[in-house]
Amino acid sequence: MALRYLVPALAVVGSAAAACSGTSTISSSADAAALSTCSTFSGDIAIATSNGDDIALDGIKRITGSLSVRKNNKMSSLSADSLSQIDDSFEIQDATLLSTLNFPSLTAVDTVSWIGLPQLGSLSFTAGLSQVSSMDIENTVLATLDGINLVEVDTLIVVNNNFLNDITMQLGNVSTALTLSANGQDVRAEFPNLEWATNMTLSNCSSINIQSLATVNGSLGFYSNFMDGIMAPNLTSVGESLAFVSNEMLTNISAPSLRTVGGGLIVSNNTDLVQINGFPRLQTVGGAVDCNGNFKNVMLPSLQQVKGAFNLQSKRDIGSSCSRFQKLAGSSAPIRGKYTCKSGTANPKGVDSTRGGGSSTSSGGGSGTSSSPANPMYISGATGLMGVVAAIFGML
Ligand SMILES: *[C@@H]1O[C@H](CO)[C@@H](O)[C@H](O)[C@H]1NC(C)=O
Ligand SMILES: *[C@@H]1O[C@H](CO)[C@@H](O)[C@H](O)[C@H]1NC(C)=O
Ligand SMILES: *[C@@H]1O[C@H](CO)[C@@H](O)[C@H](O)[C@H]1NC(C)=O
Ligand SMILES: *[C@@H]1O[C@H](CO)[C@@H](O)[C@H](O)[C@H]1NC(C)=O
Ligand SMILES: *[C@@H]1O[C@H](CO)[C@@H](O)[C@H](O)[C@H]1NC(C)=O
Ligand SMILES: *[C@@H]1O[C@H](CO)[C@@H](O)[C@H](O)[C@H]1NC(C)=O
Ligand SMILES: *[C@@H]1O[C@H](CO)[C@@H](O)[C@H](O)[C@H]1NC(C)=O
Repeated sequence: MALRYLVPALAVVGSAAAACSGTSTISSSADAAALSTCSTFSGDIAIATSNGDDIALDGIKRITGSLSVRKNNKMSSLSADSLSQIDDSFEIQDATLLSTLNFPSLTAVDTVSWIGLPQLGSLSFTAGLSQVSSMDIENTVLATLDGINLVEVDTLIVVNNNFLNDITMQLGNVSTALTLSANGQDVRAEFPNLEWATNMTLSNCSSINIQSLATVNGSLGFYSNFMDGIMAPNLTSVGESLAFVSNEMLTNISAPSLRTVGGGLIVSNNTDLVQINGFPRLQTVGGAVDCNGNFKNVMLPSLQQVKGAFNLQSKRDIGSSCSRFQKLAGSSAPIRGKYTCKSGTANPKGVDSTRGGGSSTSSGGGSGTSSSPANPMYISGATGLMGVVAAIFGML
């Protein structure tokens, strides 16, 4: 559901008899107290930018609209002792002093968006927030997500929470997207019950548990993580692309049940990965197979069809892999698209930069491209020309 951005109204007259509906702008603790007789508040409650009081929305059990705080650098505490449900959004954005969020009864919110809370280190959600369709937590100092335990969710974004080292949820499915990036340096991402997700992008994690994950309907990407193994024991299919990029300690990818990848399979710049042998049952790749890095060997023993390009490039000698796959290339062979295999190349490149007549003449140096990797891959089009499918992963 789209957030409804509230136009911050000017402070409503103080302690007049409470109206339990409409849009209420709270400018003081007295304004909040005046709502305590409203068991259900039918409308939106916004905390004013100017408010410096601790706000306790005690007595209210349900807000049918939203609860919001935007650009407040004075308030340190927001609480609601009886509130169990917010039908629309619970939005807190840029509240620079807010350190206490105490919602002991809250269990259901449509959209949670907490962004820019440099003093928020913990949550007091005793009952536990369990029903949320979309949750976005960014730029906080939260050390735990205790108080949040979602079983199903459409979208979960947890980004730039530098002290957060544990993201554990009992999620069974994620119907739109799951994105983790730039949280604590030792962050564990534990989703032991997750069976399917649409898009999943996991960056900068130290461990990942996706032991039950069977289907990713969209794309699955692992970027700049810090673990040595990525294990997806139950993963059978990925609808779009599957990418392992710049995971600098990765030595082992294991996806023993994986049979189909609808888009590209990208294994790029994982500097310690010597063997790419974790896909023993992979039969079909709808886009390109694109492996570049520092590996010695690539094994795809069940491969029956690659619709896009096939690109292997390594700094090491991969002569034996090259000769094995060369036999599979050709218009009626398993590998349909452009075949490239470069053994012992100083500068292993991905499909996007090996394109003939390509624009990118990469300078030998360093940085080059920006932080958001596009992963274009070639797919044989109906005309026989190569098309470009830019599978751009949401890197934020
Ligand atoms: C999503 O996961 C929840 C929790 O495991 C489960 O109850 C629900 O049936 C799942 N929905 C679908 C469509 O798989
Ligand atoms: C975090 O991951 C992103 C890619 O998603 C990468 O650009 C960035 O360098 C990583 N940060 C660290 C500290 O590894
Ligand atoms: C893996 O999949 C099998 C077959 O669907 C299932 O029986 C098993 O419980 C799954 N394992 C996990 C850890 O979910
Ligand atoms: C994703 O795939 C799973 C398993 O096939 C299926 O149950 C689920 O409905 C799919 N989700 C979407 C959003 O298509
Ligand atoms: C390759 O990964 C390393 C980390 O292992 C990173 O520093 C570097 O920027 C990455 N290079 C590219 C081209 O992504
Ligand atoms: C990679 O991990 C899988 C699954 O844990 C394991 O069976 C396999 O032996 C590991 N391979 C290496 C080379 O460590
Ligand atoms: C999944 O990610 C891909 C690539 O970024 C995007 O094209 C697609 O629309 C996303 N799907 C959903 C349901 O968000």
